[in-house]
Amino acid sequence: MDHVENDVTTYPAYLAGQWQPSESHETIAIHSPWQRDVIGHVQAVTQSEVDQSIQAAKNAQHEWATLSLGERGQYLNQWAQELAKDKESLATSIMTEVGKNYADAEKEVVRTIDLIRYTVQEALHMHGESVRGDGFPGGSKEKLGIIERVPLGVVLAISPFNYPVNLAASKIAPALMAGNGVIFKPATQGSISGIKMIQALDRTGIPSGILSLITGRGSEIGDYLTEHPGINMISFTGSTRTGKHLSQKSIMIPLVLELGGKDPAIVCQDADLDLTVKNIISGAFSYSGQRCTAVKRVLVDDQVADQLVAKLQKAVDALSVGSPKNNRMIVPLIDNKSADFVQGLIDDAMDKGATLVTGNQRKENLLAPTLLDHVTEDMDIAWVEPFGPVLPIIRVHSVNQAIQLANKSNFGLQASVFTQDIDKALEIAGAIEVGTVQVNGRPERGPDNFPFLGVKSSGMGTQGVHNSLLSMSREKLTVMNLK
Ligand code: NAP
Ligand code: G3P
Repeated sequence: MDHVENDVTTYPAYLAGQWQPSESHETIAIHSPWQRDVIGHVQAVTQSEVDQSIQAAKNAQHEWATLSLGERGQYLNQWAQELAKDKESLATSIMTEVGKNYADAEKEVVRTIDLIRYTVQEALHMHGESVRGDGFPGGSKEKLGIIERVPLGVVLAISPFNYPVNLAASKIAPALMAGNGVIFKPATQGSISGIKMIQALDRTGIPSGILSLITGRGSEIGDYLTEHPGINMISFTGSTRTGKHLSQKSIMIPLVLELGGKDPAIVCQDADLDLTVKNIISGAFSYSGQRCTAVKRVLVDDQVADQLVAKLQKAVDALSVGSPKNNRMIVPLIDNKSADFVQGLIDDAMDKGATLVTGNQRKENLLAPTLLDHVTEDMDIAWVEPFGPVLPIIRVHSVNQAIQLANKSNFGLQASVFTQDIDKALEIAGAIEVGTVQVNGRPERGPDNFPFLGVKSSGMGTQGVHNSLLSMSREKLTVMNLK
């Protein structure tokens, strides 16, 4: 199936149930962000192959939707089983391709297996409802409405580089369980891992054509996919820039967007500082800060700021830096361009008077974890998402100022509040404009049975297993006019 030359594999695309090279005869080289060499080539799929794949998904979807939930669930459970067999090789692929440390890459695979199984269970337990017409003034008891959920048709699933397996499965599994066909467009840097997870799905004998895997640069094939009349719903995770572009291109197509963030950690005077530091460090620096839910700014009360900064400095200096293979927390960023971007934010802040507490060393795309104190509103790092290992600290005089700065951001994904006063925690949580507030914990998406959403420029619609099943299906009403 895969073509190997000089130890570098050229991966086929998976189009309408067939593993095949693209008719374009063009491939894209994938470089490892830390080994730096070419680790494989993926196909640059053409527009006519997109047309054929979408048509195949449409054809296959009709029969797929007639299967019982239990029958669809069997394919998905078997997929989970196949992924479990491939756990080590899939984790190695994630590590090699996107530079996530091995332990975290393995956790991503395990979380994905659990997510697929949970999605099957959740879908099995969802049910429709019935309603009598007499609940409405003048309505009649003789009208009985039967409300069921039906599939939307063909779902376009577009995933980002930082969770190439998990954020693909969190779209594909609910789309399939809800009875849809799927067109899966992985991030180019992440597509080898995407291909491997679909090889596992293919081994289950899932009906041909129900899912196709379209590799190719988003900048080249993305608009064609998004505007395609055969697509009935789009589930996208990625940057706010691409998400906004998609929302302009997709007209009257249901769209769920999970985008960037600038999650604040608000540290009150009475916070348990050791607990706070533990959560801020893992929140800000795991996978070098390449998580949408990373802590991306600290808003700390003046009264405890010196203490907090001293503790954070100690913890940052103890972080492990280096190779994903050695399970380092700080690993090379996805590419040099991303490292240049983060460096630019650090330089801008320091030019404008921020204090460097620790860090600001760089070897190509490997940046040392960096802590900046006395960050002010005129600095880009106060507002922009770095997606790298840098944490700005903004000192505030009051809880109100912290809330005002938290809400001044264009983003609204999550926020953390550290305090031992439950009333204060609830007051702050109520005032912050985000999808989720974490009290005395780091921002994070899981557990995956929770709703996950961003507001403002952080997203539109809600994920999480239950909500994804809802967003990938619609209500269908049949009215029985009795008597
Ligand atoms: P990205 O550059 O926006 O890419 C995301 C996906 O969109 C990739 O598959 C990309 O393909 C594709 N794409 C690019 N242009 C497109 C177009 N015109 N039409 C359709 N698809 C297009 O994001 P990323 O760098 O992979 O991920 C990092 C960003 O994602 C960060 O901002 C992070 O905060 C955000 N993120 C958010 C969440 C969340 O749940 N809120 C989770 C993870 C990441 P190519 O790779 O081929 O360009
Ligand atoms: O950036 C991906 C986002 O979905 C974060 O997930 O589980 O690391 O909080 P998590």
